[in-house]
Amino acid sequence: MMLTTGFKGKIALVTGAASGIGLAVVQKFLAQGAEVVAVDLLGTGLKEKFANHDNIICLEQDITTEDAAYVIIDCAHRGFGGLDILVNNAGICVGQTFEETSDETWDRIMAVNVTAMFKITRRAVPLMKERGAGRIINIGSIMSEMAGPGLCAYGTSKHAVAGLTKSMAVDLGCYNITANYIQPGAIITGLSEEFFKDPEFRAYWTKKAPIGRLGEASDVANAIIFLASEAGEFISGAGLNVDGGAIINF
Ligand SMILES: NC(=O)c1ccc[n+]([C@@H]2O[C@H](COP(=O)([O-])OP(=O)(O)OC[C@H]3O[C@@H](n4cnc5c(N)ncnc54)[C@H](O)[C@@H]3O)[C@@H](O)[C@H]2O)c1
Repeated sequence: MMLTTGFKGKIALVTGAASGIGLAVVQKFLAQGAEVVAVDLLGTGLKEKFANHDNIICLEQDITTEDAAYVIIDCAHRGFGGLDILVNNAGICVGQTFEETSDETWDRIMAVNVTAMFKITRRAVPLMKERGAGRIINIGSIMSEMAGPGLCAYGTSKHAVAGLTKSMAVDLGCYNITANYIQPGAIITGLSEEFFKDPEFRAYWTKKAPIGRLGEASDVANAIIFLASEAGEFISGAGLNVDGGAIINF
């Protein structure tokens, strides 16, 4: 079968689209002809970032509000008439050990990183079923399969992303919907820049990746594009490391 490149005629929805990995993947989808719904918090400059682009609807929305999933998916339905690709990318990280983690930190991280992913995807599936196919790409972390000091709630949430994605893959495959998750390693973005200001931390992660550098948002966006493309149509339930080899380098 001939593989076509490009996303002309496809509708993609990306959460956490104003910064880092989300911003990079929205730019790639637009460059390859997709229609895009970009979602991020009010005050992140989302609309200004894409002011000169056609084929995009920018929605300023906290993904954890009660009606968020409905509002977000309705936006794709009304705006573009459906949905083919969902990238659940928005995420937050708080550096706290098990003992330091407050109930509030725990609840907030779970709400953004896991519960919103579940609710938005549940609303998205009927639209994908109507189209006869769908791609769900969830952003986990190398912390989806390991633990790090001071990453109690974050690491737990990213393990949940792995489990949730596998459930999606098993239950939705019959509708020709695939679900995969990405495990980024050390990627320089708004979420991580504070951690990488520490030269020791930066040197550790640079050395741990056999490729010998920290990752960039575009490295992760390239993997998302691959999974969303025709080339990814038989991949489901997988976790893809995008970490320069760091996780397997004991
Ligand atoms: N940067 C890394 O090293 C790294 C490593 C592993 C995994 N990740 C994951 O990658 C994903 C993207 O992170 P990033 O590094 O690009 O970070 P980032 O902070 O640059 O981008 C995250 C975006 O999500 C948005 N967001 C946060 N809470 C939201 C909410 N409630 N509603 C709507 N939008 C919200 C933020 O406003 C921001 O624009 C996250 O899930 C993160 O856990 C990042």
